[in-house]
Amino acid sequence: MLTGADRVPTGAERVLAGMEVVVTGASGFCGAAVARAAAAAGARVRCLGRRPGPLGRHVPWDAARDVPDLAGADLVVHLAAAVGDPVPGPATERAYRAVNVDGTARLLDAAAARPVVWVSSASVYRPGGPTLVAEEHPVDGQLTAYGRTKAAGERLALAAGAVVLRPRAVYGPGDPHLLPRLLQARRGRWLPVPGPDVRLSLTAVENLADACLAATGWPPGAYNVADDRPYSRDAVLRDVLAATGQPARLLHLPVGLAGGAAGAATALSRLTRRAPTLTRYAVDQLARGMVLDISRARARGYRPRRALADHLARLRAS
Ligand SMILES: NC(=O)c1ccc[n+]([C@@H]2O[C@H](COP(=O)([O-])OP(=O)(O)OC[C@H]3O[C@@H](n4cnc5c(N)ncnc54)[C@H](OP(=O)(O)O)[C@@H]3O)[C@@H](O)[C@H]2O)c1
Repeated sequence: MLTGADRVPTGAERVLAGMEVVVTGASGFCGAAVARAAAAAGARVRCLGRRPGPLGRHVPWDAARDVPDLAGADLVVHLAAAVGDPVPGPATERAYRAVNVDGTARLLDAAAARPVVWVSSASVYRPGGPTLVAEEHPVDGQLTAYGRTKAAGERLALAAGAVVLRPRAVYGPGDPHLLPRLLQARRGRWLPVPGPDVRLSLTAVENLADACLAATGWPPGAYNVADDRPYSRDAVLRDVLAATGQPARLLHLPVGLAGGAAGAATALSRLTRRAPTLTRYAVDQLARGMVLDISRARARGYRPRRALADHLARLRAS
């Protein structure tokens, strides 16, 4: 079902009406938002994936092994990816590579000269360094199989002339990642957080969907995609938990202590083969400020229309 929130006020209607837009990963959180936004802009939507998307024609595709059917597509928006922070090791690297790198190579081959918008992640950026991160920031030293294979996949996409988008911490209705993890991390009425408050970028899923559709007209290259302004980490954590009706007080832990706990949890996960409850990556994401410089996307007309306040209002009302 299309809602008013799915309307795309970015000029996408003019460009997409009547076009055949292929969306991969449309059974997932961000891909579903892109598929809905493309349909709202008047496009015919084809969802490629193991499971159907929220609308449009479903064409089965396993990114880990199949060549995708892109015949007749006017635009390909690629969001399918192995995501998450599972037990590290060679098996995880292989499984993530099969989807995020080899699957990308098959997709780019099949796309040939068709425009491709390839959704990457700010997780590709080298950890550490300045808080304000522009697209020139080095892409290496990632802490997870996810980050490493997304970086390798986007290298292929950039070499093939795709538009690569780098959102950070996408939130919105149906988010299966951030909010569930946040609720899980509560300890009674407390939420442990590593280090003092920091500034960070988040990306509303509607803003990402707008960018995916508008980017078809942008020059090839990498673009950061985030909300208009950065947020205070502590205010976000407090406000989101309060809006879900499960408020918590923040317990600030030394970063070294949180890192040590993450190391222990990861070592334990190798023995139990169950996903670690805390990882170095999660600690890094929370402890280190990262504000994406979105001026390159802005110069192409990107205007983030949603902010966390909109999502908080929805959470309070639900
Ligand atoms: N959420 C965030 O905070 C965030 C931040 C930065 C970047 N991103 C990027 O946004 C994209 C979407 O992420 P998401 O948050 O929407 O994750 P998600 O909800 O877990 O969706 C992942 C999608 O990838 C598909 N997929 C996984 N393995 C596949 C395979 N072998 N063959 C075909 N499809 C496969 C899944 O389909 P199945 O139904 O078949 O499992 C699902 O549709 C990813 O590229 C991710 O890197 C997300």
